[in-house]
Amino acid sequence: MTGGSGQLASSLAGGPGVLRVGRPAFDFDRPDTIAAAFRAANPRLVINAAAYTAVDAAESDSDAAYRANRDGPAILADLCAAADIPLIHVSTDYVFDGTKAAPYVETDPVGPQGVYGASKLAGEEAVMGSGAKAIILRTAWVYAATGKNFVRTMLTVGKTRDRLSVVGDQVGCPTTADDLADAIRTIAGRLDRDGWDPAYQGIFHAAGSGETSWHGLAVATFQEAARHGAKVPEVASIATADWPTPVKRPANSRLDCSRLQHVFGIRLPQWRDSLTRTVDTIFATAPP
Ligand SMILES: NC(=O)c1ccc[n+]([C@@H]2O[C@H](COP(=O)([O-])OP(=O)(O)OC[C@H]3O[C@@H](n4cnc5c(N)ncnc54)[C@H](OP(=O)(O)O)[C@@H]3O)[C@@H](O)[C@H]2O)c1
Repeated sequence: MTGGSGQLASSLAGGPGVLRVGRPAFDFDRPDTIAAAFRAANPRLVINAAAYTAVDAAESDSDAAYRANRDGPAILADLCAAADIPLIHVSTDYVFDGTKAAPYVETDPVGPQGVYGASKLAGEEAVMGSGAKAIILRTAWVYAATGKNFVRTMLTVGKTRDRLSVVGDQVGCPTTADDLADAIRTIAGRLDRDGWDPAYQGIFHAAGSGETSWHGLAVATFQEAARHGAKVPEVASIATADWPTPVKRPANSRLDCSRLQHVFGIRLPQWRDSLTRTVDTIFATAPP
């Protein structure tokens, strides 16, 4: 499994037979390390959780974003194809432009709004074009008890501020790295037990169940934090137009995850329940 100390890789790490690789030993910026790590691991399955994930920074660092999100996954997929082993590759809701009025299905037209989304889309295309047995999981709004993410940022900022402004007109499906890791483990277990089925090939949406806005996620985060005695700031809902960012975020990031349920029988937990668990873990292990 690639992804070093990233959120998803950290949630996936530790199981029996799981080898986690990260920089400097495995580095998409040094393509020779990809084949070397692959040879050393001699895997039965590869999970690619490594990516260039800095959405705004990617605009001025496009070469690095494409190396990590397109070129590296392409090499990995070629290695998997040559070894005839499956690849589970993680992608993003940012392949869409966010203008659809309903949750996105896998076959909806793509329209990335920035370099990050475009490079991840190019990665999907490279993986699919490699001939590897590939499962691409598009996820969204990922957070965890550790790492750099929206929920932890809210808790940190909320400690010192009485009032926060958070965007209320972007909706999506918050997803914990732990829930996505559980889904990946279930898929990996199925592959190991029953082998490959052509029905597994291609793109699946894999995000938390239910939906909310960033404002809704912030308010719910503070509701949970209040149970742990945290100060609760007032959270105002603002429009995207009032919070300019270098890359436009999709107004609608909701992912319809029916295919994942239909093919693998997997439905990620309700985002609100997972938030409760994650905030409890944060206060138990790494309070802001
Ligand atoms: N975070 C989100 O909200 C979100 C939303 C939708 C989709 N996704 C996708 O979900 C997956 C996991 O994301 P995450 O939240 O776990 O991201 P993350 O916490 O940013 O972790 C990504 C990891 O990738 C590794 N990495 C970065 N550049 C690399 C390079 N050039 N070569 C090798 N490894 C490199 C880094 O590991 P080391 O530095 O430790 O080696 C980093 O910790 C990614 O595919 C991402 O695109 C994330």
